[in-house]
Amino acid sequence: MSRNAELARLIRDRAGAAPPEYGLVLGSGLGHLAAAVEGVAIPYSDLPGFPHAGVSGHVPQLVVGALEGRRVAVLGGRAHYYESGRADVMRPALEVLKALGTERLILTNAAGSLRAAMPPGSLMLLSDHIAFAGTNPLIGEPSEARFVPMTEAHDPGIRAGLKAAAEAEGIALPEGVYCWFSGPSFETPAEIRAARILGADAVGMSTVPEVILARFLGLRCAAVSVITNMGAGLSDESISHEHTKAMAPLGAAKLERILRRFLAQGT
Ligand code: HPA
Repeated sequence: MSRNAELARLIRDRAGAAPPEYGLVLGSGLGHLAAAVEGVAIPYSDLPGFPHAGVSGHVPQLVVGALEGRRVAVLGGRAHYYESGRADVMRPALEVLKALGTERLILTNAAGSLRAAMPPGSLMLLSDHIAFAGTNPLIGEPSEARFVPMTEAHDPGIRAGLKAAAEAEGIALPEGVYCWFSGPSFETPAEIRAARILGADAVGMSTVPEVILARFLGLRCAAVSVITNMGAGLSDESISHEHTKAMAPLGAAKLERILRRFLAQGT
């Protein structure tokens, strides 16, 4: 049996056989959303190939269970390209979600804003992205499937559902373009100005490789950024990982309301 099939069996044995309708990946400081799920938590250490999330603010466990009556599989932490230099570090975990029968994925992250109208505490729904980190998680993939089309990579149907949920909750959810920088250093002010010229609305160090992998695996996906700071040079506040973790809860509460409404409305 392949490792993915074995892990899928382990997860089914512990958490039940029904396929999760949605996979959710939680970003920095957003890990507590997993606590809202009534289900079974499996530490990543029991799941070979799942990321040993080495970044504080992440909770390295998979929680499979019910949220608003819908079956979900929540990845409480992610690994980033900058931790290992491997852009495909989330591939095993996403392959296992696929092996469980999951067809849709919602990714979350903390991000810096390039728009004055999106201050810290705001949310942004990704309409599209720019892979500015200069690498790709499918480099080395031998199959023809590596030539993944990325038009509408951010699923219009899921996005419409998330926007409707946000509207019903009275929460602003503007759409924008996310630009992936490798990190782990934050951007320079000149890089932030360049990203704006390129058409970005927010910057971050994650999510894009997962979107590429999701499309490769045939998962429909969408992603939401929690804005924790203005991009470098756009405000006087200092940028740090501590600041990101401290600010994430501001937007996380709103994001949780949107996700709950989205799942409850049955889109
Ligand atoms: N840049 C990159 N990643 C981030 C930022 C930022 O300003 N804020 C939170 N994650």
